[in-house]
Amino acid sequence: MGVMTLLAIIVAPDPRLKISAKPVAKVDDDVRKLMDDMLESMHSANGIGLAAPQVGDERRVIVVDVSAKDADPAPIRMANPELEWVSDEYLIHEEGCLSLPEHFSDVERPGAIRVRYLDYDGEIQELETDGVLATCIQHEMDHLDGVLFVDHISSLKRNMILRKLTKSKKLAAADDD
Ligand code: NI
Repeated sequence: MGVMTLLAIIVAPDPRLKISAKPVAKVDDDVRKLMDDMLESMHSANGIGLAAPQVGDERRVIVVDVSAKDADPAPIRMANPELEWVSDEYLIHEEGCLSLPEHFSDVERPGAIRVRYLDYDGEIQELETDGVLATCIQHEMDHLDGVLFVDHISSLKRNMILRKLTKSKKLAAADDD
């Protein structure tokens, strides 16, 4: 691994969070650097998942690490993740997002998934999982198609959250002047 770069995380609402990301042709050094930089940036922001569009990159790359705070890190780096199977059973988890700072909401998703992806070495991998990891992977995969967790909740609550974020962005911009 080379020198890490901390990437700025884009806060909603922002058109760059609404794009549909493009598949990675090959996991090369450039993609590996993106994965490493994303993990570093995610950990530094105390997040458990991050998708490339959140740092202004249009490739289908996500990173997750749902390990407990006092446990060893358990980073997972994925390129071109695709859901091969989801459970019929849906579960509700409270979700947050580094692009929607300080906002949380219950979201209903399949409780278990099987995902196929390219790993750090460009090898095809399959992972079957449930719980927080399944939720987190689905949340990050949504980002690759321009979907935020607030798109899964009522428009009333979504608009309230986005209005608050717009307001705090304006205040922050005013402070910078
Ligand atoms: Ni997110």
